[in-house]
Amino acid sequence: MSNAPYLLTPGPLTTSMATKQSMLRDWGSWDADFNRITGRIRERLLDIVHARESHECVPLQGSGTFSVEAAIGTLVPRSGHVLVPQNGAYCQRIARICRVLGRALSTIDYAEDAAVRAEDVERALAANPAITHVALVHCETSTGILNPLQAVAEVVARHGRGLIVDAMSSFGALEIDARSTPFDALIAASGKCLEGPPGMAFVIARRSVLERAEGNSHSLAMDLHDQWIYMQKTTQWRYTPPTHVVAAFDSAIEQYLAEGGRPAREARYADNCRTLIGGMARLGLKSFLPSAIQAPIIVTFHAPHSTRYQFKSFYDAVKARGYILYPGKLTTIETFRVGCMGQLGERGMAGAVAAVAAVLADLDLAA
Ligand SMILES: Cc1ncc(COP(=O)(O)O)c(C=O)c1O
Repeated sequence: MSNAPYLLTPGPLTTSMATKQSMLRDWGSWDADFNRITGRIRERLLDIVHARESHECVPLQGSGTFSVEAAIGTLVPRSGHVLVPQNGAYCQRIARICRVLGRALSTIDYAEDAAVRAEDVERALAANPAITHVALVHCETSTGILNPLQAVAEVVARHGRGLIVDAMSSFGALEIDARSTPFDALIAASGKCLEGPPGMAFVIARRSVLERAEGNSHSLAMDLHDQWIYMQKTTQWRYTPPTHVVAAFDSAIEQYLAEGGRPAREARYADNCRTLIGGMARLGLKSFLPSAIQAPIIVTFHAPHSTRYQFKSFYDAVKARGYILYPGKLTTIETFRVGCMGQLGERGMAGAVAAVAAVLADLDLAA
């Protein structure tokens, strides 16, 4: 079994061999051993953000968006009003979820290369007392921007509103501490910085908020209150759990803790990010964001200037050398993205940069 090709993507990403191997066993969803795994995962996820005293971890089947939608649907009352500061595609997705669920919505719109500003959130909350919640994307994965979670959390708490954080691509790598960063809910998924396979996500919800959330949800399957109550009562998932994913996620978290937990994960990704941006700059490929707002998670690069450049052939050639790139998500300029996450093997990020260098030469795209 080989790890190649390596995924330079923000999830699914390349998992370790131990994580893959932990999926080779079947589990009964009612079995006590399996339910102990679920319980352990829930506790460890709370510990990563120091939230055991104040919050509950509610896992949910499906990709990250399912849990974002479940969190908004369950934790924002139907009469609620959500403010979404938006600087990328995942913020826009939250706004769309609010529209679909019929929650009142306001947005603050930024350019895709600008971080959210806490002052703007403060002004919007002061101007509109009807706003009940702010939904913030911590790392906007469509570009790689790091939004200022701590400053926004302080403003939202000062105004007595609820904060829902999409921490999909930051949880487990970037520091979040529930004891000093107030939030009602934080959402992330198995296949991101904790390096499990995709297939489940989870919401770290403030216990007092979750207790009051009965009957809010528009949906049976995505009702986090119901999922929580059932799990507390039975230790089981309400409906069929993704058993292999849960077992592999447990193994990935075990490895994460053995590696040194969050500080070690952040250090590894930051090192990957430096190697990547430095190496690509030497190849004439410039990153899109100013370094002050670049999260060490995923990097957007301007495409090579050559008129011969086409993402598809560039992608295919890099794939042939063992690495999977990610397309850009900007509408106005041609870009591509490279993730800093996952198990990149012995040669690490330097191997990925070398593959891109060889492809630029092969396709005659060098600057
Ligand atoms: C910040 C953020 N939010 C939400 C999602 C949506 O997750 P999914 O594609 O797993 O539904 C992602 C996925 O990468 C993400 O990066």
